[in-house]
Amino acid sequence: MKFFIDTANMDDIREAYEIGVLDGVITNPSLMAKEWIKGKENQHQHYIDTCNLVKGDVSAEVIATTYDEMIAEGKELAAMNPYIVVKLPCTQEGIRAVKYFSGEGICTNCTLVFSLGQALLAAKAGATYVSPFVGRLDDISSDGVGLVAGIVDIYRIYNYKTKVLAASVRTTQHIIQCAEVGSDVVICPLAPIKGLLKHPLTDSGLATFLADYHKVNG
Ligand code: E4P
Repeated sequence: MKFFIDTANMDDIREAYEIGVLDGVITNPSLMAKEWIKGKENQHQHYIDTCNLVKGDVSAEVIATTYDEMIAEGKELAAMNPYIVVKLPCTQEGIRAVKYFSGEGICTNCTLVFSLGQALLAAKAGATYVSPFVGRLDDISSDGVGLVAGIVDIYRIYNYKTKVLAASVRTTQHIIQCAEVGSDVVICPLAPIKGLLKHPLTDSGLATFLADYHKVNG
């Protein structure tokens, strides 16, 4: 399973990359706003810097909402770097644009997916990735991981090539559960990735080993 970090914070991207477990990066306009990355020029530079560091898929989200504008903006984003994946919302216009980019050999991430039906259309349109939002479904008493599991099953039945990218993953348990149901990728912030490392027996075991070493070796 691949790990994509869900942030526009360069320090967090660098830290995940240096741990050696980072396969890609996702951002969205809200995450860009959180880091105050303002204006098209700065945002494009952020994407280029991220691609140069990570050398893995970097999803860049279109702001356009009409088909023609999505195509123009998506082309501009894709031209920035070969690692760019054009991120498009799962709307009628967005699915149309996914179909167009799929025909052009440009990678896409169909985002804001909350149902099996949406995931089915994304795959039929030829999306490279589909992003079901686990945490946001859990927020409204729905079953986010259940949706990921359902999409994985349907894609296997029909042998769709679209990769399942579990988005809005916020906890270590979300990561484990998405792995268990066969998600191709999880997207999450740095904290739950580092949380996977934590175990009290690792800490106490290491402390004992070091104490015993120093007893004998000084
Ligand atoms: C994915 O495309 C989004 O950036 C992200 O996963 C949303 O996560 P959130 O629901 O925690 O904001």
